[in-house]
Amino acid sequence: MKFFVDTADFDDIKELQETGLIDGVTTNPSLIAKSGREFLPLIKEICAIVDGPVSAEVAATDYETMLKEGRKLAKIADNVAVKVPLTPDGLKVCKALSDEGTMVNVTLCFSASQAILAAKAGAAFISPFVGRLDDLSQDGLQLIEDIVEIYDNYPEFTTEVLVASIRNPNHIVESAKMGAHVATIPPQVIRQLYKHPLTDKGLADFVADWQKTGQSILDAA
Ligand code: E4P
Repeated sequence: MKFFVDTADFDDIKELQETGLIDGVTTNPSLIAKSGREFLPLIKEICAIVDGPVSAEVAATDYETMLKEGRKLAKIADNVAVKVPLTPDGLKVCKALSDEGTMVNVTLCFSASQAILAAKAGAAFISPFVGRLDDLSQDGLQLIEDIVEIYDNYPEFTTEVLVASIRNPNHIVESAKMGAHVATIPPQVIRQLYKHPLTDKGLADFVADWQKTGQSILDAA
């Protein structure tokens, strides 16, 4: 499973990139607004330090303007994935940009029928929003299971399932069991993935017991 960082905070991206565990980045207009940074230079900086896809979302909602914005975003770097909303115009833009060789991430997916349309439009990624469905007491993970099953039925669908709106480690583990290709994860949830109280306790015990031996691995002959 690939891990993308779901943030526009450059410092967080840089720190997490250095773990060697990060395969890409996703941003959206809300995350850009939160960063307080200018959009295009920020995307350029992120693309320079991340090897994998960096999603940058169009701001317009009509076909002509989204297409122009998407082409401009795609020129920033080879690893830009243009993000478009799951609307009729958004999917037309997806098809046009995909035909031009640009990676497209179709966002705001809340149903399996929408995911089928995105695959048919040639999307590189479909972003189903698990957490926002859970927030409405619907089953976000069931949507992931449905999309993975449907895409698996059709080898001509090359769209990767990018699990979005992740709120906790369980969303990632369950999506991985279902075979989702990518999880885009907020930095604080990535940090939660490492955590287990028995790891902390076990390590404290090992460190204390090792100190009792009085030995040093580096000083040993
Ligand atoms: C990522 O591409 C999505 O925009 C993001 O995961 C949405 O997350 P949220 O529901 O926490 O805003």
